[in-house]
Amino acid sequence: MANLAKLEDIVSLCKRRGFIFQSSEIYGGLASCYDYGPLGVELKNNVKKAWWKSVVHMHDNVVGLDCSILMHPLVWKASGHADKFADLIAECKSCNTRTRVDHLQNHAEEHTEHVNIDVELAATHDLSNKVCPKCGKVGNFTEPMPFKLMFETQMGANVDDSMTLYLRPETAQGIFANFKNVIDTTRVKIPFGIAQIGKSFRNEVTTKAFTFRTREFEQAEMEFFCEPGTDENWYEFWKEQRFNWYTELGIKKDNLRFRDHDPDELAHYAKACVDVEYKFPFGSGDWQELEGVANRTDFDLRQHQRGMRTLNSWYEQKGDLTQIQLKDEAEDYNKGPLSYFDEQAKKRFIPYVIEPSAGIDRSTLAFLVDAYDEEEVKGETRNLLRFHPALAPTKVAVFPLVKKDGMPDIAHNICKELKKYFTCFYDQAGAIGRRYRRQDEAGTPFCITVDGQTKEDNTVTVRDRDSMEQKRVSTDQLLNYLRDKLEI
Ligand code: GLY
Repeated sequence: MANLAKLEDIVSLCKRRGFIFQSSEIYGGLASCYDYGPLGVELKNNVKKAWWKSVVHMHDNVVGLDCSILMHPLVWKASGHADKFADLIAECKSCNTRTRVDHLQNHAEEHTEHVNIDVELAATHDLSNKVCPKCGKVGNFTEPMPFKLMFETQMGANVDDSMTLYLRPETAQGIFANFKNVIDTTRVKIPFGIAQIGKSFRNEVTTKAFTFRTREFEQAEMEFFCEPGTDENWYEFWKEQRFNWYTELGIKKDNLRFRDHDPDELAHYAKACVDVEYKFPFGSGDWQELEGVANRTDFDLRQHQRGMRTLNSWYEQKGDLTQIQLKDEAEDYNKGPLSYFDEQAKKRFIPYVIEPSAGIDRSTLAFLVDAYDEEEVKGETRNLLRFHPALAPTKVAVFPLVKKDGMPDIAHNICKELKKYFTCFYDQAGAIGRRYRRQDEAGTPFCITVDGQTKEDNTVTVRDRDSMEQKRVSTDQLLNYLRDKLEI
């Protein structure tokens, strides 16, 4: 089934119901930055919880980390980001607008992600037939040039001890930098994974469609370390796991697909990569990346071994990181400080890594878009969000039918009791029909109403969001009934 939602419907619903606001709105807003409102933060937290449960808690061999955003600058030299993590841009000589070269080339299709480039290759692009998206001039561009995507900041107040640091552009490097700590302090054995959810930052040339591509964003990444030679099997395993995660949480299969990266699209660290794409209601091609599953080989751990060897020269040249050259790889790199010793096979090697890397903001947007529905009920349009119960910001709303005859007290008590188990919202304002509609639009799976009969037989009505059917349930059975339905 195709999506009903148009992007403007989603943006308007998000604002109206307090899911997502423009950042700094009282000052006119800050482009591409967004704040999650009261319902939005619950939804996003539920997406993160569902990811953590599926990737960490449901696997005996995956553990978690929470690393700092600021890291030693050599991390980014070793990872390749300091030199290679850039978009190729060209400036229109007529209107001075800078545009990503891959967006010019594929203007009708719009590529979604970064092409990691070598600076030397920058001049090989022919832009003579390309159109400036701002002013429409053809072929009037500067030579393509790399535009670095990492945000810089300064640590320290004094000139002699301050240094330039980067806001991390991916959470993955905190995991690689802690690989040895995890091995040394836990009982994990290869194959195993280390997972992390956290903010990352990229100074994107072009941002996109609401929360889809922003300069500050949240990633959920897992680096799965395995023996070289087994990597292709694990790649297939995690591809399937991650695709199923979306469908199990309610995304319609027709709106989800895999797309393999072309060789020239691969990140500098990857041997293979596949995107899980969602059919968003925006953009020229609609299909946009939610998550990439990459085979990063042993690239990162080997590079960090070089980074560790380079550390002493960095101390000597402190502050001039751009000039530092990474030391060559040691000949016996397979026995280096970030190698792994397999006790059973009695061999040492640098593990390969399979990385599922999901965008939490993108997934949250996809869950919103996919859950959005409209239907005619008695001549009126009912808007609703058919969230999976695990994702619904509010699980249950409790209403007194009227504000008298002791009904508010009973409803308050029911709400107080249920709050111990899941998010529960009390509402006594307005006609009962309007209260149901408000909860439909917030995606609340169940509404409980205390009415005249409650006092007589201790039952309440439980209304199902999707079918709108109502059942009478005894108050002492209510918790079990809801837990069963909500699968909590
Ligand atoms: N760690 C993969 C990415 O940030 O795209």
